[in-house]
Amino acid sequence: MKTQIAIVGAGPAGLLLGHLLRAEGLDVVVVERASADYVLGRIRAGVLERTTTDLMDRLGLGERMHREGLPHDGFHLTDGERLIRIDVKALTGRQVMVYGQTELTRDLMDAAPGRDLKVIYEAGDVALHDPESDAPYLTFTENGTARRIDAQFICGCDGYHGPSRAAIPASVGKPFEKVYPFGWLGILANVPPCNHELIYTNHDRGFALASMRSETRSRYYIQVPLDEKVEDWPDERLWDELTLRLGPEVGTQIMRGPALEKSIAPLRSFVFEPLRHGRLMLAGDSAHIVPPTGAKGLNLAASDVHYLSEALIGYFRRGDTDAIAAYSDRALARIWKAERFSWQLTRLMHRFPDNDAFDRRMQLADLDYIASSVAAQTTIAENYVGLPL
Ligand code: FAD
Ligand code: DHB
Repeated sequence: MKTQIAIVGAGPAGLLLGHLLRAEGLDVVVVERASADYVLGRIRAGVLERTTTDLMDRLGLGERMHREGLPHDGFHLTDGERLIRIDVKALTGRQVMVYGQTELTRDLMDAAPGRDLKVIYEAGDVALHDPESDAPYLTFTENGTARRIDAQFICGCDGYHGPSRAAIPASVGKPFEKVYPFGWLGILANVPPCNHELIYTNHDRGFALASMRSETRSRYYIQVPLDEKVEDWPDERLWDELTLRLGPEVGTQIMRGPALEKSIAPLRSFVFEPLRHGRLMLAGDSAHIVPPTGAKGLNLAASDVHYLSEALIGYFRRGDTDAIAAYSDRALARIWKAERFSWQLTRLMHRFPDNDAFDRRMQLADLDYIASSVAAQTTIAENYVGLPL
């Protein structure tokens, strides 16, 4: 099979990119290792920046998101005692949207057949070949049969563990990485949220986040040591811990219910440079990971895809090779700023095993300063809502 652009991975990055390119009439095939149900079963991000919702609107796919999503004007930081409201709307003029990654992915998936976006699910042994040549290609198996796709460009949207980044020789690429000594244990339950806005808390016992998917579905997280297992956390133990960490004012408002999903995600900061090697371009988690504090992961994938789609459309419409060459630097400038924000908010809101009493006082002083400074709140708000493209 021949195509203009082959995309590896049908997560949010791959599907968004596929739709943006198809909207311009370009020829695209997406190859995904997992089944569609498996992709939809992964509970991940919950907060969308305006940049991301604008992309969905541009594609004409934002209708359900606006109907079912919850626009939020602000969120809270707390030290476990007092709530500090970051009034994102008042400080930036913009809102964020609470709409789960699974819902966004479903909207993109459902629209694919009608827009002639071909997605091959359950592809086996996906491999990239000759990315530095003018004739790169993919090989994989489909229902046990060997397949090959020849493309003019390959876009690696296959997440942190996919084969695309690995296809860039070590002599060309450079990884930057920080691994944190804890993970997030998340629980999803069909109970109303404890508060109508998100609350990020840095309690003496560790970080916790009160989030939601809708007015009847809550998502909570707590920081746990890396060697902890989900089985160590029966629902009641997790609800008890959340109640303590969210403090007397908010913790008592938590409604408990059986877990629909419970999982532990490790925290990592990671950037791979450059994002392009010949005719292979990386976008989303294949190129970078942020710790989830600040909800930047999915949104960064969307902004990469915005830049990448512009570059590819420029190439196929006008033969513009400069935009292809500029993609990596353009995307990285925004990626590093989101990395900085996620790293800083992670350091501010978590208990690190080597933190001493002085470090704790520094965190509390930082939160106290944020509580009293419009300048500090504005900095947080403009990063949270998403820096301009
Ligand atoms: P992915 O969503 O990882 O999609 C990559 C796709 O490539 C997958 O469908 C995968 O199956 C496919 N693939 C992998 N290997 C191959 C292969 N060999 N061949 C073909 N296809 C392949 N962000 C937030 O903002 N908030 C959160 O709460 C949050 N929680 C997270 C929890 C976890 C456990 C993880 C891993 C991430 C979380 N993130 C969160 C980050 C956010 O979900 C990601 O940034 C986002 O999914 C990135 O989208 P993507 O399309 O780049 O990658
Ligand atoms: C959610 C996850 C985040 O990392 C975050 O910062 C906010 C919300 C969530 O899953 O709801």
